[in-house]
Amino acid sequence: MCGIVGYIGSNGACKILIQGLKRLEYRGYDSAGMALVGNDGRLNVHKSKGKVANLEQTAAAGDTEGCLGIAHTRWATHGEPNDINAHPHVSQSGDIALVHNGTIENYAVLKKVLSDHGVEFKSETDTEVLVQLIEYIKLTSNCTLSEAVREALLQVEGAYAIAVVERGEPDTLIVARKSSPLVIGVGDNETFIASDATPIIGYTDKVIYLENDEMAVIKRGEPINIVSISSNLPSKIDIHKLRLSLAQLEKGGYDTFMLKEIFEQPATLCDCLRGRITPDGRRVVLSGVELNKQKFIEAERITLVACGTSWHAALIGKRLIQDFCQIPVEVEYASEFRYGNPVLGPKDIVISISQSGETADTLAAIQIAKQKGAFVYGVCNVVGASIPRATDSGTYIHVGPEIGVASTKAFTGQVTVLTLLALAIGQLRGAIDEEKVYEIASALKTMPKTIEETLKVDTEIQKLSRIFTYAHNFLYLGRGYNYPTALEGALKLKEISYIHAEGYPAAEMKHGPIALIDHEMPSVIIAPSDSLYDKIISNVQQVKSRGGAVVAIVSKGNTAMNDIADFCIEIPEVPECLTPLVASIPLQLLAYYIAVNKGKDVDQPRNLAKSVTVE
Ligand code: AGP
Repeated sequence: MCGIVGYIGSNGACKILIQGLKRLEYRGYDSAGMALVGNDGRLNVHKSKGKVANLEQTAAAGDTEGCLGIAHTRWATHGEPNDINAHPHVSQSGDIALVHNGTIENYAVLKKVLSDHGVEFKSETDTEVLVQLIEYIKLTSNCTLSEAVREALLQVEGAYAIAVVERGEPDTLIVARKSSPLVIGVGDNETFIASDATPIIGYTDKVIYLENDEMAVIKRGEPINIVSISSNLPSKIDIHKLRLSLAQLEKGGYDTFMLKEIFEQPATLCDCLRGRITPDGRRVVLSGVELNKQKFIEAERITLVACGTSWHAALIGKRLIQDFCQIPVEVEYASEFRYGNPVLGPKDIVISISQSGETADTLAAIQIAKQKGAFVYGVCNVVGASIPRATDSGTYIHVGPEIGVASTKAFTGQVTVLTLLALAIGQLRGAIDEEKVYEIASALKTMPKTIEETLKVDTEIQKLSRIFTYAHNFLYLGRGYNYPTALEGALKLKEISYIHAEGYPAAEMKHGPIALIDHEMPSVIIAPSDSLYDKIISNVQQVKSRGGAVVAIVSKGNTAMNDIADFCIEIPEVPECLTPLVASIPLQLLAYYIAVNKGKDVDQPRNLAKSVTVE
């Protein structure tokens, strides 16, 4: 949520910043801006409402000279998206410019104090308070910019990743973070800073992940100096190697990132499974579990915490762990868990699931779980993100950068890792027999091929999507393992096509939602040939007999459903616990094509951001 990028070196900063913002645009795209410090020290600020392309045009018409700069793409929290509220914000004198990702919670109090001292504010944002406070401290204490930044941060409550530059200081870039992420790219005589590593790829593969409560002063030609904000003591600098390629950040011939990511799933699941099942298919090996065997053996309860799509994966994880490990499992929205005073102890394992590894609510849930003595395990995609660094151990899903705002390949990666995790824990605890492990692990091994097969429904779904493009409401129904798949299908449709859609356990229909059914309310019913198939047939009939159109997702060869449903989409037959993996493919495609038919921007849907780093 909001992306920041910065550069100090010997090349023109403007081009690097614009390119960096475009790579970060999935984090927010309602306005953008940049501040450049010319080699002679002059400060130029450019801002524009809307996407980064608008800023590119605005900046091109002005002065873009300078080898130092900071930039920002915004997802509005305080104040509507317009040029004034766009970052960078500048201090009253116009000397200091700052970009910020996060929320300053005590901004109202600080604003009042500063206003009482004659500081005039231009924007409605919380961020402007910080830059004004820095200048106020600098002027009243007669200190350096870095001392003023540190002092101001000690007075601020909330979350931030910031970058600051000053007029007349073409050799200094200051950054700091608390709760919001910040990565420093270390090049040859040049340094990059960004909310995540994507803007840095192609320039350097050496990165430093700034830790919470750290501030870095980056001076041209000098080693980077990192200190703790609270103690002012120097921090140890760890340089990590990035393992991402530029090709992973491109559309690769597809119209959109989302379509690329849907079609990439056979390959991403291959990466996700690599080396995790023994060649004979009889054992699942996850290093995070192996290294913490005792914790998993002694666990009395597992709680899964996540948000959005990751929460849907968690619901599937619950069934998997219950089925294979015989441990009580709970699933919580991270945002509810964090304020729910959870009762936890050392025999509890909390599994946090997150694609980005930066979701603020999930991070907060992890902190609470750790405070209460639980062992926290992470399932994450982005290597080196805040969540994998905050957890005690974990497993990466390794599906590569997911850029489309609507999560697709991360969902199937999460479900795959949760399946492996449930099998690994089940084996450790002796709760699952060898033959069952072999059956599921063998099916997982061939899952990339199975998904490739499933993707052949593409043309059929494209045709089907035209029939439903103008529906105003949709119901998604499923049972057992596929109730969460229904929730996920509905979420996909909502977020990119803006059609209202609800996911329900199919049998709950008769307790209320069935009142909504008429000829204008289509239902997508996930009905693979599993243990609940006979039950779901009667749910389909209940919808049909009330005039609702039914699209049924069925196992290959199920011709009986043709007589009941209006449209049948066939998916390959797999063990019951793996049906969400294949059933989610046609649902992703259906949402995608309906949104495209409606002319929507599927990669950057309105109001959404990929990394939700605010509460
Ligand atoms: C999914 O399509 C969403 N855009 C959203 O619900 C997302 O899954 C949620 O914000 C959680 O993100 P995370 O997995 O990065 O923590």
